[in-house]
Amino acid sequence: MKSSAIAHANIALVKYWGRSDSRLNIPLNDSVSMTKCGTDGVKLQSHTTIEFSEKYTDDTAFLDGNPVSGVGCQVSGNKCQLSGRSFERVLAVVNPLRKKANCNLHFKMASKNDFPTQSGLASSAAGFAALAAATADALKLKLTKEELSTYARLGSGSACRSIHGGFVQWHKGTSHETSFAEQICKPNDFQMNAVIAIVSEEKKEVTSDAGHESSPTSPLNEMRVQKSQEHAVQVKKAILDNDFSTAGKIAEQSCMMMHSVMLTSKPPLLYWTADTGKIIKKVHQARENGLECYFTIDAGPNVHVLCRPEKVDEIQKMLVGYKTIVAGQGEGAKIADQHLF
Ligand code: PMV
Repeated sequence: MKSSAIAHANIALVKYWGRSDSRLNIPLNDSVSMTKCGTDGVKLQSHTTIEFSEKYTDDTAFLDGNPVSGVGCQVSGNKCQLSGRSFERVLAVVNPLRKKANCNLHFKMASKNDFPTQSGLASSAAGFAALAAATADALKLKLTKEELSTYARLGSGSACRSIHGGFVQWHKGTSHETSFAEQICKPNDFQMNAVIAIVSEEKKEVTSDAGHESSPTSPLNEMRVQKSQEHAVQVKKAILDNDFSTAGKIAEQSCMMMHSVMLTSKPPLLYWTADTGKIIKKVHQARENGLECYFTIDAGPNVHVLCRPEKVDEIQKMLVGYKTIVAGQGEGAKIADQHLF
């Protein structure tokens, strides 16, 4: 009972920030994302293997070769890769699937990311989507992609969107079953790339898991939630209408509304660095000069510059001096032949 899966990170055009149920990761609003795949070298993917067997006397998990600890960061040095609820989040995905399959065997899991973990590049989305896909396959559960997305969501909310490729909508729902992700269109049906300026590869000080909890302390939270529901409908239409300008404008506004909530929360959350601000200005200037591009930023300082594929070279020139990753669109989570152990 062993399986491996590969899943890609995603970038939200309409952001998810704040939850109505933090155990089940039920979000306050619908969100819409693009599943990413790096175009050279770094693919922005997570490769995960899980095995259930009588030979294991305990459940264990390893990320990039380091053990994932039970509570917080307990492994030696600063090598612990999943801070916060860490191992509990792995169990949050595996346990319900193990129960559904009537399996009482222990597991060993290993996961490897080909990009920096916890620096605002959605490593947890890729990781938990791959974990859900590999676990369901190892346990021989036949689930639809929508059902699978509900289990990925239990590890990290945004992971439900990485189950699908291309553009994806996460319906907020009100329960485990009704909070699922659905594909809007396949990779490259709507042409959009993201040139990611890597401002910092440091792990962020406040995880998004902790950040979600503070969103209700911002006086702007309710307005953002309401507006996001409208944004989700509008951006979906723009994607299906091949309307890059509308999709980009909404993405930028949704990003700024999320960061406004973060900045006005108690305590305030500032994920940006001076370089984040400099790149925002460059994007504004580029647009004034006729180069159409928009930015979006997750819970970290790195900036995704969204553009049509033919503008990637010009955007890279604009970002000279910064390390960049060019992301096209990725497939959804897939079973992989190669195991990590
Ligand atoms: O799924 P989480 O807990 O990593 O939250 C992700 C939140 C953002 O990346 C900031 C926004 C989003 O919708 O992806």
